[in-house]
Parts: sequence; structure tokens; C-alpha cells
Amino acid sequence: MKAGWFEATGPAHEVIKVGEMPTPTAGPGEVLVRLHASGINPSDYKRRANAKAKPEFARVVPHSDGAGVVAAVGGGVTRFRAGDRVWVFNGQWARPMGTAAEFISLPESRVQALPEGTSFEQGACFGIPAMTGYHAVHVAGDPAGKTVYVPGATGRVGAYAVQFAKWRGARVIASTGGGESSVTAVRALGADLVLDRKDPDLEARLLAETGGRGVDHIVEVNLPGSIGFDERVLAEGGAIVSFGAASAPTVAVTQTGRRARNMGMHFIFVYLLSEAQFVSTCAGINACAAEGRLIHRIAGSFPLDQLADAHDFAEHATGTGHVVVTA
Ligand SMILES: NC(=O)c1ccc[n+]([C@@H]2O[C@H](COP(=O)([O-])OP(=O)(O)OC[C@H]3O[C@@H](n4cnc5c(N)ncnc54)[C@H](OP(=O)(O)O)[C@@H]3O)[C@@H](O)[C@H]2O)c1
Repeated sequence: MKAGWFEATGPAHEVIKVGEMPTPTAGPGEVLVRLHASGINPSDYKRRANAKAKPEFARVVPHSDGAGVVAAVGGGVTRFRAGDRVWVFNGQWARPMGTAAEFISLPESRVQALPEGTSFEQGACFGIPAMTGYHAVHVAGDPAGKTVYVPGATGRVGAYAVQFAKWRGARVIASTGGGESSVTAVRALGADLVLDRKDPDLEARLLAETGGRGVDHIVEVNLPGSIGFDERVLAEGGAIVSFGAASAPTVAVTQTGRRARNMGMHFIFVYLLSEAQFVSTCAGINACAAEGRLIHRIAGSFPLDQLADAHDFAEHATGTGHVVVTA
């Protein structure tokens, strides 16, 4: 099969190769998928670029997310058969063979039916971005009736968080630092209100919009840079859910004297949700997609032969949307 890989870490054009390697087979309990699209996420290019650490394996076929068609199933597989359209997650989590290839063989639990009307490229965005966005909205309980605040709403994860929160009946206030075009893009995702993240009056605005109570739930992409702000705009009993950290990952939390009493905090690491969380998260994403409620912000699509270009683009065009590789 054709695949892309790296055997050393470093800049995309120096370390990524595309060529032929043996096609995997479906072992017991596994599903062999002929991939048509593979999604690139920050963890993929950060692991590849990290010059301070060797690759986790002698050869890494990168990317955890993808979508395609079932080519074969191993013994004991009950939910799929050849020809089914599927999406996959955790492809390159703790294993060398990811989705930047024509085929991948994965345990059945890492394979999900692709909803009708969802393309392979869209399905390749479901793994890390949609699962993180979905879990971030649900981890502190049912979001219905809550006011959910999503800063960084143009992000891959943020954009899905906006949509899942709205779909589940929350009032969604989003913010973006990207200016008018980003505000327009986030409004199109269904946010009730989109604010300028860089507005010096943002705190007062959020409090005014919630009658002084504050927001119930924050989906936070930059906890170290935002914790003080979040504590000031969170309602009592509210939750801060952190999934990203753009700066040094040290966070000073105010224990007493904080405005938001009974504050909850959650830290997401999407690769290691519990099996029950994987099941509910994947089912929720598929239900929302099946209703035609998801907008996927795909910023770039590259053929597998151009994997290095795709990594370069994904790395340098943050906040523009998903980058996928097609095969
Ligand atoms: N823990 C996990 O399991 C998990 C899962 C997925 C991703 N992540 C991590 O989460 C981060 C975001 O991933 P992504 O794929 O969504 O990236 P992305 O598409 O590049 O989005 C990042 C967004 O962050 C916003 N942003 C940038 N600086 C900010 C700041 N100082 N304060 C608030 N928002 C800021 C920008 O939004 P605006 O321009 O709209 O403000 C940008 O669109 C990455 O570090 C990634 O590694 C972690």
C-alpha cells in the first residue's frame, strides 16, 4: 500500500517520506479499512516536529483520525462487514501505524459507522476534534439550559464545541481573536453571541450578558493564559473544561476568595477517555451528524503524495480549520 511516514523527528519536508509498505491484515477483533481521508491534528505535527524527542517507534505512519470503507474484518467482529463506510479514531495512539496510508487495521471499538451524508473528508475530522469538542461540552453533565462559553471558537475543537453545545440546548456564547471574518464564521456555526476575545471589556460583557451570574461552563483552549479571567466570569457551581494549552502549562487556581464558588475543573486527554465515554461520545457525534447539524471547517485537502505539504500547512494555518489528506 501507499503510506506516508517519518523515522526521525523534524521539519515536515526533511523527515516525511511517502512510498510503499506492506498492507496490514485484519487480526482477530480487528477491522481493515481502506482509508480515503486522514485528518491532521496538532498532536500529529507536534510529535513529528519535536526535535527534542525521538519518534515513539522506528517508523511512524502518522495521524489518528480517518475515514474510508471496510475492506475486511477479523474473527469475532460483529458490527461491520466489507463495504461499510466508517470513520476511525486513535489510529496512531500508542501504535506505529496511523491513518496517513491507504489501509489501517484497528480494533473494532476504534471504528464507527460513517453517517449518511457525511463525506470521508468530513469523517476524518471526527476523531480528535469532534470527540474533544463533544466531550468538553458533556463532561460536566447535561449542557441543556446552561450558558456555555467557548473562547477560540474558530479552532477545530472549538468550532465543534459550539455546535454540540447548541445542538444539546445550551445557550452558546463564543469568542474569537480573529477579527470580523472569524466572527462571521463562528456565527455560521450557530453561536447565540460571538464576542471579540481581545476586547478589553470582554469580562464586563460576559457578565452583563448573563445578568451578572456568569457563564455555567467554559470550554477552554488556553487555560494557563485564561484561568484568572475564567474564574471571574464563571457562575457559581460552574465548570472550566481545559483541553489545550498554548503557553507554559502551569496554572494558578484561586482557592478561596474566588468569585465562582463550587467551581469544577476538568482536564481532557481525548486519546484516553474511558471505553464508556468513547461509546457515548461517538454515538453523540453520529447522531448530530445524522441530523445534518454539523458544519465542518475544512481548510485544506492534500493528496497523500503531498503529506509534507499538508503537515506544513496544518502547522502554520492554525485556527483556519481542518487539514485532511486523501488517498
Ligand atoms: N487534550 C486533548 O485531548 C486535546 C484534543 C485536541 C486538541 N488539543 C490541543 O488543543 C489545542 C487546539 O487544538 P485545535 O486543533 O482546536 O487547534 P486550532 O484549530 O489551531 O485552534 C486553536 C484556536 O485557539 C484559539 N486561540 C489561539 N490563541 C488563543 C488564546 N491565547 N486564547 C484563547 N484562544 C486562543 C484560536 O481561536 P480564535 O482565533 O477564534 O480566537 C484558534 O482558532 C492544541 O494545542 C491541541 O494540541 C488537545
